[in-house]
Amino acid sequence: MGRLDAAGLDEHTVSQTDSVSQTDGVGQTDGVGQTDSAREHLIETYRKKARHYDITSRLYPAPGYPQRTQRLQAVQALGLRPGDTVIDMACGTGLNFPLLQQAVGPGGRIVGVDLTDAMLARAQDQIKANGWSNVSLMQADAAGFDFPAEVDAILSTYALTQVPECAEVIAHGTAALAAGGRWAVLDLKVPGRTPGWLAQLGTATVRPFAAIDEWMMRRPWEAIRAAMQAELADFSWTELFFGTAFLAAGSSPPIRSLGAGQG
Ligand SMILES: C[S@@+](CC[C@H](N)C(=O)[O-])C[C@H]1O[C@@H](n2cnc3c(N)ncnc32)[C@H](O)[C@@H]1O
Repeated sequence: MGRLDAAGLDEHTVSQTDSVSQTDGVGQTDGVGQTDSAREHLIETYRKKARHYDITSRLYPAPGYPQRTQRLQAVQALGLRPGDTVIDMACGTGLNFPLLQQAVGPGGRIVGVDLTDAMLARAQDQIKANGWSNVSLMQADAAGFDFPAEVDAILSTYALTQVPECAEVIAHGTAALAAGGRWAVLDLKVPGRTPGWLAQLGTATVRPFAAIDEWMMRRPWEAIRAAMQAELADFSWTELFFGTAFLAAGSSPPIRSLGAGQG
């Protein structure tokens, strides 16, 4: 039920991830994620945003913000090659898909995962309009997502700081990476040394929908940084646009032999 479309993809590549019912999407779990009002609110918010998201997101987080440049940097950080399989976690309407398509080519695969049915519906429109047969979509909560094994890369843009279980998502994704596979996370953050009131004001303008205080108090970019640093090899952390965003990336860790550390 989680899969909306998988043209050209084999069945088991994307399976068993129904963290959220596709029928009404909200308020249901399959035991993986715990439903809470914040998540229901998030889904409702993105349902309302979905229709005009591709236009309004150009103003995100502010008019003139170099979002496209940042997306390009994030995709480049994945080091994709033609034929690769990449997961776009919390893909929304699929704004990364054109860049990912350029990188993996028609022989590659893109799997878009998102919690919000209406955002995926827009992504589906884009897939249809472009005639892409190598993109599949799944409706699932990142927190309970069962990553397909041996993927070449995982990307998440402007989304993972909204997922309280972001550290677990990093860990689960890392476990699914093929040897040499790459993880890249691009998202917003509060710049260092910003006075609290200013950060609150700035964040309120870009995230009027979210629990701003909770997001700022939780400082999810720090959890993402710590998790990626702990899980991945070749970890890199780059602050973008005066520290208002970050790009974190790394590679799957070297495989440890079973006997390592014994005797
Ligand atoms: C600001 S949009 C970003 C969408 C897209 N990644 C982009 O760069 O345009 C945030 C997206 O994260 C999704 N999202 C939020 N929490 C999620 C979760 N726990 N699991 C999966 N998707 C989630 C929302 O449904 C929404 O589509």
